[in-house]
Amino acid sequence: MSRYILPVSFFGTVFGAAVLLKNHITGGRCPSKANIKGKTVVITGANTGIGKGTALELAKRGGRIIMGCRDMEKCEAAAMEIRGNTLNPHVNALQLDLSSVKSIREFAERIKQEEPHVDVLINNAGVMRCPAWKTEDGFDMQFGVNHLGHFLLTNLLLDKLKESAPSRVISLASLAHIVGKIDFEDLNWEKKKFDTKQAYCQSKLANVLFTRELAKRLQGTGVTANALHPGVVATELGRHTGMHQSRFSSTMLSPFFSLLVKSPELGAQPIVYLAVAEEMEGVTGRYYDVLTEKEPAPQALDDETARRLWDISSRLVGLEEEGQSSESNPPAEVQSKAEQTDCAQTHGQS
Ligand SMILES: NC(=O)c1ccc[n+]([C@@H]2O[C@H](COP(=O)([O-])OP(=O)(O)OC[C@H]3O[C@@H](n4cnc5c(N)ncnc54)[C@H](OP(=O)(O)O)[C@@H]3O)[C@@H](O)[C@H]2O)c1
Repeated sequence: MSRYILPVSFFGTVFGAAVLLKNHITGGRCPSKANIKGKTVVITGANTGIGKGTALELAKRGGRIIMGCRDMEKCEAAAMEIRGNTLNPHVNALQLDLSSVKSIREFAERIKQEEPHVDVLINNAGVMRCPAWKTEDGFDMQFGVNHLGHFLLTNLLLDKLKESAPSRVISLASLAHIVGKIDFEDLNWEKKKFDTKQAYCQSKLANVLFTRELAKRLQGTGVTANALHPGVVATELGRHTGMHQSRFSSTMLSPFFSLLVKSPELGAQPIVYLAVAEEMEGVTGRYYDVLTEKEPAPQALDDETARRLWDISSRLVGLEEEGQSSESNPPAEVQSKAEQTDCAQTHGQS
């Protein structure tokens, strides 16, 4: 017996076990091999991180990809890289700044005019724990970009998604939603002391509640809506946090941290699964933790909060005046609950 067999098989076993452990921790790859040739996918915030990883994976599967990003130089570069890697020429960069209602409207208008159909909308872009910045329209940056921007974009594309049914809306939430609270008295942090962590958690809880209400309103249309936590992924999301800004953290702690997190390509796998898997056809109103369906936090299951958030969001982004967000006609039981609640409020809950 060769003296190398023992050490080689030992290292082989350790390596194999490490791969299996990493797969177990990270959730592994999308089990579906579905090809999406002929389907159009719109992804927000696709120039880097999970969005770029998702664009790459879906381009490999033959989809027509529209990457909506605020920085066109970065977006064009990412689109070119993906076209080069996948040899899929249908990967396009389009200007979208989710911190501007005007930009969101222009983006949606171009999609409506230029795209015959939209089969998948992926609400991915996000900002985490930035300072108390405001959007162009005066909303808290995290609530404005993460929730209100995607709320408006989805509503503006709803007719297109319905015409393209069966179609899917996928929203990137986060496990952070479990400590989130929706403060209806001060959604934009104008009255209380700003807490950047809580502002992120509120915006991510809003993503889950939005999905819940959207799925209800879309019943019977063939358009599904699901939310997910992608796992812990090595991206630029922490750019505003101490970890990225402190030299000690970025040099000493980062290497250990990177052992525990997954690559953007692996982080994209649960989104790819929700976007392409045949068994996800018709599945709606769910929350996924990586590749597994889970019940979200109790505050994300509250139908009344979800409806109230929808109504306030419509008003804030100016959809209510146009009657656009009610176009989706909530099902009768939602409508009558809304009427009952309004009634109860009018009559002092009596
Ligand atoms: N990474 C994780 O571990 C993790 C965990 C849970 C949930 N998530 C969620 O996953 C999503 C993607 O995050 P990521 O980790 O990939 O972060 P990332 O690397 O920082 O990417 C975020 C993307 O959003 C874009 N974006 C930010 N503000 C925007 C705006 N105003 N308009 C348009 N695009 C804007 C960024 O563009 P610029 O490059 O121009 O800034 C970037 O393309 C987020 O919704 C995040 O909350 C991530």
